[in-house]
Amino acid sequence: MPRIRVGIIGVGNCASALVQGVYYYKERGDCEGLIHCDIGGYKVWDIEFVAAVDIGSNKVGKDLSEAIFAPPNITPRIADVPRLGVTVVRGPVLDGVAPHMVEVFKPAEGRDPTVDEVADALREADVVVNLLPVGSEKATRFYAEAALRARAAFVNGIPVFIASDPSGEWPRRYAEAGLPLLGDDVKGQVGATITHRTLVALLRDRGVKVEGTYQLNIGGNTDFLNMLLEERLVSKRISKTRAVTSLLDYGRKLEEGGGVRIGPSDYVPFLGNTKVAYMYIKARSFAGFPLTIDVKLTVDDKSMCAAVLSDVVRVAKVALDRGEAGAIPEASAWYFKHPPVQAKSDAEARRWLEEWLAGRRVSEAKPQPVAGE
Ligand SMILES: NC(=O)c1ccc[n+]([C@@H]2O[C@H](COP(=O)([O-])OP(=O)(O)OC[C@H]3O[C@@H](n4cnc5c(N)ncnc54)[C@H](O)[C@@H]3O)[C@@H](O)[C@H]2O)c1
Repeated sequence: MPRIRVGIIGVGNCASALVQGVYYYKERGDCEGLIHCDIGGYKVWDIEFVAAVDIGSNKVGKDLSEAIFAPPNITPRIADVPRLGVTVVRGPVLDGVAPHMVEVFKPAEGRDPTVDEVADALREADVVVNLLPVGSEKATRFYAEAALRARAAFVNGIPVFIASDPSGEWPRRYAEAGLPLLGDDVKGQVGATITHRTLVALLRDRGVKVEGTYQLNIGGNTDFLNMLLEERLVSKRISKTRAVTSLLDYGRKLEEGGGVRIGPSDYVPFLGNTKVAYMYIKARSFAGFPLTIDVKLTVDDKSMCAAVLSDVVRVAKVALDRGEAGAIPEASAWYFKHPPVQAKSDAEARRWLEEWLAGRRVSEAKPQPVAGE
């Protein structure tokens, strides 16, 4: 029986949706709602959870099957998750908890473990998935190091630039260790980023000039509560903005001229895991005539994340099986907002992935640092 052993960093709402999703599909035995049913011979129900790290006093010490439902998590029960025999262990707090979040992410008693102790806890994992709060720059680097020492592939779900590290250092270290690295910042199944990109690519391909655009996102979970602090959003804004502006030759100029505003915008508690994204584009078409697009997208934020992760974990295992190491731009462009190399459209990103899955590297997706960051 093929299996993929996964370690989770940050047992929040995304992790809950991922863990439950695996058991949801295990029970149903079909693939409705998944991006891919089969990836390199792996089905979503081949995923097994073998390690979990968090800092929350409500989560540390519990079995993962219970911790995914512990407050402040609010992801509803969509599957019966059996006792997994995986105890959530305490990680170091570092910069994972913003000052206004200490009540909701109340750290469990005890000292911060060393990187080798966390690596030890991750030792059984083939793939480690990072799902820390936005702004966890130091903590993400700590866990990327721990995964490397545990000899696991690393999937970075959040906007800290590891797979797209502009210095190339993390991809180089993973390449030298013979381990795959995928990221950065999950691009939800049909979230605001891929919808916004699709609209902008449509205008570009039909010769329409974008003059200004915004994407305002609101939600009511801890992810949105955490993102109220603008200082923690620097890389999130870069990640979400570049995902859109990279499609246009004049994208950077548009940004510099104040023509783009994209990012998490407010916390509305009663929305829970529902995320609402408002996207607006003003543009000029034939002979300078104005054109505007105004879109409201409403989704369950965490299912969007889990759908992508349930693919990416399998992609990471395929890379491990093939002995591919370092950043894998062909596979990251379709699944992440800030990959090592952005494709010129999501159709192209998908083609890169399919080519790579068929065993071919894609020359346009050659690893290169993201300019100017
Ligand atoms: N559609 C999506 O949901 C989506 C898309 C892209 C990226 N992301 C990112 O994925 C990440 C996870 O999202 P979420 O909704 O699950 O967040 P969450 O707030 O529900 O969970 C974060 C978890 O990390 C834990 N944590 C905090 N500091 C830690 C540390 N130092 N070590 C270990 N654990 C720590 C918290 O206790 C909490 O359980 C966020 O950064 C989010 O922005 C989500």
